[in-house]
Amino acid sequence: MKFDFDKVVDRKNTGCFKHDALTQLYGRDDLISLWVADMDFPAAPCIQEVLQKRLEHGIFGYNFRADSFFEAVQGWTSRRYGWEVEKDWMITTPGVVPAINLAVLTLTKPKDKILIQTPVYRPFFSAVEDHDRCLLTNPLVNDNGYYRIDKKDFEAKIRQASLFILCNPHNPVGRMFTEEELSFMGDLCKRYNVPILSDEIHADIVYDGLQFRGLGSMKSYDDVLITCISPSKSFNIAGFSTAIAIVPNPKLRQKINDLHNSLHLFTGNTFGICALEAAYTCAEPWLEALIQYLDGNRKYIKSYIDKHLPMLKVNLPEAGFLSWIDFSALDMNDNDLFDFLTNKARVALDPGRKFGVDGSGFSRINFACPRSYLEEAMRRISYAIKTR
Ligand SMILES: Cc1ncc(COP(=O)(O)O)c(C=O)c1O
Repeated sequence: MKFDFDKVVDRKNTGCFKHDALTQLYGRDDLISLWVADMDFPAAPCIQEVLQKRLEHGIFGYNFRADSFFEAVQGWTSRRYGWEVEKDWMITTPGVVPAINLAVLTLTKPKDKILIQTPVYRPFFSAVEDHDRCLLTNPLVNDNGYYRIDKKDFEAKIRQASLFILCNPHNPVGRMFTEEELSFMGDLCKRYNVPILSDEIHADIVYDGLQFRGLGSMKSYDDVLITCISPSKSFNIAGFSTAIAIVPNPKLRQKINDLHNSLHLFTGNTFGICALEAAYTCAEPWLEALIQYLDGNRKYIKSYIDKHLPMLKVNLPEAGFLSWIDFSALDMNDNDLFDFLTNKARVALDPGRKFGVDGSGFSRINFACPRSYLEEAMRRISYAIKTR
C-alpha cells in the first residue's frame, strides 16, 4: 500500500508545540520548524478510522482497558522486540516522562544519585533534579560522530547510583546499543542491585533492516528492569498521552504502582487507548513505509552536509528520526549559534546545550517531515553559513 509522506500538511493553528509555539520560544514564526520530536505526518489511516469510529459513538466516560489492549502490547513486544511480556507486568501511564518521574520518586530517596548518559534528552536531568536527587553522569564518548560508552567511568559511577536511566535508542546521539553494551551495563546494575529504567520510546524506528533488542528480551535483567515503551513517537500520536511501563519484578512494580494509583494516573485517555491498540495491531505496514521514507531523509541530511557543508559533522542515526549535528567548526558560542540558526538561517532546531554541557556546539534536527521541507531547511542553513 502506498502512503504519501511527501504531502505537506499545514499544522499551524492546531495547538501544536512544534509550529504554534515558535514565536514564544524562538522569537519569530517564519521558521522551518525541526525541533520537538513529533512528526509532520498524519497518523496511519487505520488509526484514524478507529478514532473516527470511537468519536462517532459520542460517549466518553471512564475507561476500562479490555484484554485486547494488553494483548496488542504483548503482540508488539513479541514481534518487534523479541520479548514476551506478561500482562501483569504492565503499568499504563500518561507518558514515558511521567513514568520516569514515578520511578525516581518511588525507587530513590532525596539526595540519592541517579546515573544518566549525556548528552541526553532534557527531562532526564529534570526528573533527577526536580526531586532533589543528585545527577551522576556517564558522558558518552564521541568517536568521530559515533558515541561509545566509557565503560571504566560507568563501572565507577554505577556503584554509587540508586537508579540508572538508560535511553535506548539514544536521543539525541542516535545509538541503538549493542547486546554486548547492554549486557555490560545490565550485568553491573545487577551486581550492584541498581534498578535500570530503560526508555525505549524510539525503539520502533530502526534502520538497515535491523531489529530492536532491548534489555527485556535478554531475560537476565528482570529483577532490576523497568522498560518504558509507547506508540507516541513511531505513530505520531504523542498528543494522546498513552504509554506503558513494563516492570517484571513485583516489588519494584508495587512501589511504582502505589504512587501511580494514588495519583489516579491509571484512568487514561479514551482516544489514546484506542490509538495504541490500533497502532500495535493494524498500522505495521504504515510504519514500515514510514521507516523507508525516514531512511531517505536521514541519508539526505548526511549526504547534503558531506557535499555542501563539509565543515559540519553528522552521523547516520541507527534509530529514531533525530540527527545530531556538530556545528562547532563555526566557532560560535551556544547563544550565538542559536541566534545564527534562528535569525539568519531561519530554522528552529533544538540547541545541543539543552542536552547537557557535552551538547555544546551541536544542534538536533528532527527529520520526520516531508522531504521538501527538509530540503528548504538545509538550503537555508547552507546559505546562512556561506554568506556569514
Ligand atoms: C527519549 C525520550 N523519552 C521520552 C519522550 C517523551 O515521552 P512522553 O511524551 O511519552 O512523556 C521523548 C520525546 O521526545 C524522548 O525523546
